Amino acid sequence: MTATPQPQPSNARITLTVNGEESEVLFASYKTLLEVLREDMNLPGTKHGCELGECGACAVLLDGQPVLSCLVLGVECDGRQVETVEGLMEGNELHPLQEAFADLGGAQCGYCTPGILVTAKHLLEEVGTPSREQIREVLAGNLCRCTGYLQIFESVEEAVVRCGERKADS
Ligand code: FES
Ligand code: FES
Repeated sequence: MTATPQPQPSNARITLTVNGEESEVLFASYKTLLEVLREDMNLPGTKHGCELGECGACAVLLDGQPVLSCLVLGVECDGRQVETVEGLMEGNELHPLQEAFADLGGAQCGYCTPGILVTAKHLLEEVGTPSREQIREVLAGNLCRCTGYLQIFESVEEAVVRCGERKADS
């Protein structure tokens, strides 16, 4: 008896720029941007969480705007710019957000941290000096089971101060 051939998932090929580097990537066309980054581009910093758009662990910047990469299909990203936590460093230096989160306990198990960092980076770029309320509001979709959020808010505020110091020094 011969086996019935199973349908194979079709592949997609797109060109996208991730953290400033343009790449062509081939992947199964059903995959989300989250899966393409982690499984096809070797960028595991962006985390798998709920995969339902509810936890924020998978947040990245797409054309400069925060998105939940578990809700975006890879095929929608042809020709677009993606920024992940791997692209946060400034040259050889940690981004002030990364430093502040490490120093103030804003990251504990760290699972939620990549999504929070990229979301907060966008806030700092947009607002400069956000209020506690603005920080709370922007990060409302990023769930953390460890910190109780206070250290996260304080870390973002500390990063604002450090960004200002870096600008003054440059
Ligand atoms: S994994 Fe995307 S929102 Fe939870
Ligand atoms: S630091 Fe553990 S989930 Fe946020």
